[in-house]
Amino acid sequence: MSDALFPVPAEWAEHALIDSATYLEKYQRSIDDAAGFWRDEAQRIDWIEPFHTVKDTSFDEADFHIRWFEGGKLNITANALDRHLETRGDQVAIIWEPDNPSETVRKITYRELHRDVCRFANVLKSRGVKKGDRVTIYLPMVPEAAISMLACARIGAVHSVVFAGFSPDALAGRIEDCQSNIVITADEGLRGGKPIPLKANVDAACDKVAVETVIMLRRTGADVQIVSGRDVDWTEVMDGASSDCPAELMDAEDPLFILYTSGSTGKPKGVLHTTGGYAVWTSMTHQYVFDYKPNADGKMPVYWCAADVGWVTGHSYVVYAPLINGATQVMFEGVPNFPDHSRFWEVIDKHQVEIFYAAPTALRALMREGDEWVTKTSRKSLRLLGSVGEPINPEAWDWYHRVVGDRRCPIVDTWWQTETGGAMITPLPGATALKPGSASKPMFGVKPEIVDNDGNIQAGATDGPLVITDSWPGQMRTVYGDHDRFFQTYFNTFPGMYFTGDGCKRDEDGYYWITGRIDDVINVSGHRMGTAEVESALVAHDSVSEAAVVGMPHDIKGQGIYAYVTTNADVEDTEDLRAELVKWVRKEIGPIATPDAIQFAPGLPKTRSGKIMRRILRKIAENDVSNLGDTSTLADPSVVDDLLANRKK
Ligand code: WT7
Repeated sequence: MSDALFPVPAEWAEHALIDSATYLEKYQRSIDDAAGFWRDEAQRIDWIEPFHTVKDTSFDEADFHIRWFEGGKLNITANALDRHLETRGDQVAIIWEPDNPSETVRKITYRELHRDVCRFANVLKSRGVKKGDRVTIYLPMVPEAAISMLACARIGAVHSVVFAGFSPDALAGRIEDCQSNIVITADEGLRGGKPIPLKANVDAACDKVAVETVIMLRRTGADVQIVSGRDVDWTEVMDGASSDCPAELMDAEDPLFILYTSGSTGKPKGVLHTTGGYAVWTSMTHQYVFDYKPNADGKMPVYWCAADVGWVTGHSYVVYAPLINGATQVMFEGVPNFPDHSRFWEVIDKHQVEIFYAAPTALRALMREGDEWVTKTSRKSLRLLGSVGEPINPEAWDWYHRVVGDRRCPIVDTWWQTETGGAMITPLPGATALKPGSASKPMFGVKPEIVDNDGNIQAGATDGPLVITDSWPGQMRTVYGDHDRFFQTYFNTFPGMYFTGDGCKRDEDGYYWITGRIDDVINVSGHRMGTAEVESALVAHDSVSEAAVVGMPHDIKGQGIYAYVTTNADVEDTEDLRAELVKWVRKEIGPIATPDAIQFAPGLPKTRSGKIMRRILRKIAENDVSNLGDTSTLADPSVVDDLLANRKK
């Protein structure tokens, strides 16, 4: 923990939507009079029919339910598109910056976006997609990704975006779980100059699951296989489609999307978000966290969230919230280090970005390359910086603040999760003095608490598991197809409370400091990875009999993947096998699951009842071996000596 405190700059205190007094007053009201607070905040959304009940929620097992804005009817795309046409139809909504800066930038106005969304919605309809159907989207960072998502929402179909870095197997599993029979993809993606064979991946996935229609966008023009009767070309079907598509009337609690995320079991969970609460929550948090409002000249500030639409940050803070708030935003196809390490800052100069939101892992990678890549760019347009996805270490925070932001820009370190829909604990730039590394204070309506291991709420400065004791509008509503799993995962550990899976410290000033996951989930480059998923990929290999995966500290990724592997009796533990296993996991799950270290272990530390003692494996992976704790309950304590002797550096 760092002791530094950065007060709110005077001009922010004066001009921001929320100053410190307003924060306190609004926060108090959001807790004391939740119904009144949210009734007012919900007015930012155009409701086709008004809701009759603001909040009807209970986290108790006997009466477990979460409903917001009941009775309300809306369409989220009417809020993101139609309502802007009159006032800002010709304003640029999306500035698309391609992977390679020598390619042409695309600028898409609200009117054009509306037209393309309506057309693509009609394409989906003509393919038989109806309200409630699930549509899988496997696209790179191109405007068509946003268009596809919004087209689904337009007609009430439920999108399931699968990050374009996932393998055919991972894609097939997600298609199967939500039984979608249509996939939207591209011939190839392009990242850092390298093609990603998206269509070939879809073809491979379709060997495992039945899909009726594949709509393929041509991004690179690569030569790909076309399955007649199944595959159609994006441009061809769009050409004939009408741009008139009325927005489907959606119930506040109708599903909007499913997004798969890793948990502590091998199978990813389909996190389901609904329409009304999500619309209110994401647009409100976006407005307050980024102080998003017109500049003095009436123009909307250029905003850039560098997250991929394949993750929740891309859903909430690239697609839905900025468009609902009428933003002009950059959508970036590429990576921070291509063509060189100045790319982020050059894009900022090129498009005069004022608000920039990125993950600490990218900052750490760039920080290592030296300040020159940053300082040779202007960055004069920047006013506000954001961080998301993992704890930001004080060194990276300082670098972001001092070098990138020239000490001028506040940093909003936003803690949240796929499950929470939007920012839960975060500074507000005009209200919150900053402490590097702390996500600081709760968003309106959020009641965080720190409990002990028995679930007793702890007062004052303390640390322990982080829970949220009451519902907020953007909360996930279920695990798709498995409501019981939803309850068991989040509400069973500490009855009556939502358990985040994170550990947290709260200091004397009431600031929250997220310390990281305390379940069997690790955070690799700001992306959540279930250790069980990597384990099941490893044991699926012919040579492996058993595997245990834990996190290890990693300079750039935050956490790396450390795997203990027991091979079959007749298998030799060679360097070749190690390399093959790394490749295998990449192929099974995707490059984000690449193991950073594999240690061959003839035996794993198990209790007499057969449970792997992960605490020991974690300590060895973290090289914190001075005190391994009590090992006397192990069936064979000698395996620990072997593990210590063969630790991977
Ligand atoms: C987990 C959620 C938030 C959208 C992207 C990740 C970690 C996220 C922070 C932060 C410390 C953070 C937590 C959380 N996390 N933001 N600002 N400070 N930790 O969404 O994949 O659902 O992962 O990311 O551990 O539980 P996700």
